[in-house]
Parts: sequence; C-alpha cells; structure tokens
Amino acid sequence: MRIERAPFFRGRFTLPGDKSISHRAALLGAMAEGETRVLNYSSAADCASTLACLRGLGVAIRRDGTSVTIASEGLPGWRAPAAPLDAENSGSTIRMLAGALAGRPFRSVLTGDESLRRRPLERVAAPLRAMGATVLTTDGRAPMTIEGGRLRGLVHDLPVASAQVKTALLLAGLQAEGTTTVREPFPSRDHTERMLPLFGVAVGRDGLAASVPGGARLRGTDVAVPGDASSAAFLVVAALVLPDSEVRLDGVLLSPTRTAFVEVLRAMGGRVEARLEASDPEPVGSIVASSSRLRGTTVDPTLVPSLIDEVPALAAAAAFAEGPFTVTGASELRVKESDRLAALAEGLAALGARVRELPDGLVVEGGAGLRGARVRSHGDHRIAMALAVLALAAEGASEIEGADCVGVSFPEFFAVLARGTGRA
Ligand code: S3P
Repeated sequence: MRIERAPFFRGRFTLPGDKSISHRAALLGAMAEGETRVLNYSSAADCASTLACLRGLGVAIRRDGTSVTIASEGLPGWRAPAAPLDAENSGSTIRMLAGALAGRPFRSVLTGDESLRRRPLERVAAPLRAMGATVLTTDGRAPMTIEGGRLRGLVHDLPVASAQVKTALLLAGLQAEGTTTVREPFPSRDHTERMLPLFGVAVGRDGLAASVPGGARLRGTDVAVPGDASSAAFLVVAALVLPDSEVRLDGVLLSPTRTAFVEVLRAMGGRVEARLEASDPEPVGSIVASSSRLRGTTVDPTLVPSLIDEVPALAAAAAFAEGPFTVTGASELRVKESDRLAALAEGLAALGARVRELPDGLVVEGGAGLRGARVRSHGDHRIAMALAVLALAAEGASEIEGADCVGVSFPEFFAVLARGTGRA
C-alpha cells in the first residue's frame, strides 16, 4: 500500500460494530436458548472467525450484511466439531471459546493462523484445568484440545489483566457447580459483565472482581453493537496530527475500559471530546477531534489495560508531539498479533522518529520531522493502521508492506482514509 502525505483529514463517520462486543454477542447468543439478533455486527475478519467456529459446533447462524441471527438450543445443543475449529488471527475467539467449551462433554481442537499459534494459551488453559476440564496445549500454544465436562466453580486471581481470560473463566463458570469469581489486578474491558444480564444472567461485581452463578441458563435476546472504539482511535489521531482537520465519529462505544486513549490524547494537548449519549448497557456517544499541537506525556501504567489496543495509535500521535512520550507496564503488547513494541519501534524509526524500546514499553521522542519510507505491518492490523496514519502526515510517500491485514479488525479503514483526505 502506497500512502502519500495528506493535506487534511475531515469528515463525519459511523464506524462498524465494535469487535470485542461483537465476539461476545455471538458467543452468548450461541450459548443461549432461542433467537439472538445482533445488529451492527462487526465487519472484522476476526468476528467472522467466531461465527465460523460456532457454526462448526452446529449452531445455526444467518448473516445478512451487518445483522446476524443466531438460533440455538443453548449449550446442550452444541455438537462435537467434525474438524478443528479455526480461530484464524483471533485471540479473542480462541480464548473465549475455550471457556465455553470447557463445560461441553466432547472433544474439540482449536487452532489458528501462524500468528495465533505463537500466542500464549496457558493463561486460559491452566484455570480451566483447575475447574475440571481436560485441556492440552502445544507447548502452551495452539493447537489446543479441550475435553470438557463437569466443572467446579473457582475463585481465580488473574496475574495479568486480561479481558479474554476473564471472559473465558466466566463462560466456563456459567456451566460449573457453584459460583465462579475472577479478580484482576487492574480493570480490563467489562463487556461480558455488562452483556450477560441482557441474556438473563445476574453478574456480581465488587471492585475488581466479577462473579457468575453456576448452572445458568441464558435466554436469547437482541444486541445492538456500538461503533468500534479501537478503530476510532486511528481516525482521531489522524485528525489530531494533520493540519486543517476535524473528524466526528457517531455512535461510538465510550466504555471507560476502552477510551483511556482519549484521556491520554487530551493530556497531550489534543483537542478531542467524547460526548456521552446513552449509557446502558454500554456507554455510547460521539467523538470529535481536530488538528492539535501535541506534547509528550507519561501514561499511567494502571490505565494500560484500558488502552492496550490503542498503544499503536498513541505511538503514532507521539511521533508528532513535542517532548518524550512514555508508556510502560505494557509487556502484553509483545504477545499480541505481533510483538507490537518491536514492530512500532521499527516502523517509527524507519519513518525518522526517535524511539526507544523498553522491556515493557516505549519512549517516543517527538518533534522530529517524519519522512516517508518503506515499512512493515508484521501481518498485524493495528501496526498497519498506525503506520498508515504516520505515513499520511510524513513528508513524501510511504509504502506499507502487508497492509491488507487491516481487514482483521477494520476492513473499511483505507476507504475511510481516502474519503477523509479528499482522495475518494
Ligand atoms: C480483548 C481483550 C484484549 C485486547 C483484545 C480484545 C477482548 O486482550 O487486546 O484485542 O475482546 O476481550 P487481553 O484480554 O488478552 O488483554
């Protein structure tokens, strides 16, 4: 993908449905008895992977554009899959589905693409074993074989905040004997906790702990998915770093567990405002951002789980800021779709930014003029989008190798950039 410097980024956009919420709506819909209709289901390839895996378990799913209808007999209707379930690039799919399968009395094999087969699964496998499931990983990674069965409720302290692991244990806990409680060191996204009551299950919440009752029965329902908060971050940063720019994003998910990037950008001097329009079951509203002079900042490490997917977008903003931008406490980024700390450091340096990789973070020394270069996505959608935003504001032209992977979370990304820069 070749990208030239853009004069501005302007427009009003409505984003496809949030990826994290779409995965959960599909999973809970498949676990529920009756019909579930999901409106504005994400266009992300990752969310199509979730639907494909659920179909592999015998769940009837119809997709009509962005509407997905799931007709299920509930968990007892799930059948042993005839072939391995392929989560492709999606960590959320493999980890969260593992939790649901831990209570099913049959054997399933879960696998994924080359990137997913490098990512850690013991963090979910070990507690599922402690609940009574048989779980085999391949040196801690996929392929993973799960033979589910009778589960015991568990009180589990997560060593690292992970919404995927938390969700997996809650989905297993719904099928266990007794209550399951998951505690995290810092708050991570709470979409599962907020969505379960729509399906008729009460969730106990106490500070950093969430509990579900065992033997729960979910009832099908309708779920409307707000616009993707993580996709929004790239468009917000494009508007901040380009001149003469203003972007308005409507109907975006504004969960505080996902919008910490807005606070960080404001602390950097960014003119960005989130306006809350509804708050139940999830906060939703609009975000408006316009061209700004940015300065560096130090990100509070306790906020990192609430902006973990937005570090690539923030690093892109930091390259145009005055003074150092520091993020630490983010070693999880080394085990995402790529080693995002290494990939960002490489891409930023290639474009002329001064950047230092830390074991658990990055320091971006802003203020340097960026010039176009040939850069690599490492097959990682969020690295590709961060590089694209950097390339739009860099002098000259850039080439991004492997930019197609944006489809993993935001297939419309380059079309939106073209419209917003007056090139469509
Ligand atoms: C996700 C949780 C995060 C995030 C991922 C989606 C989710 O991962 O990075 O893109 O939908 O629960 P962890 O829970 O592993 O931190």
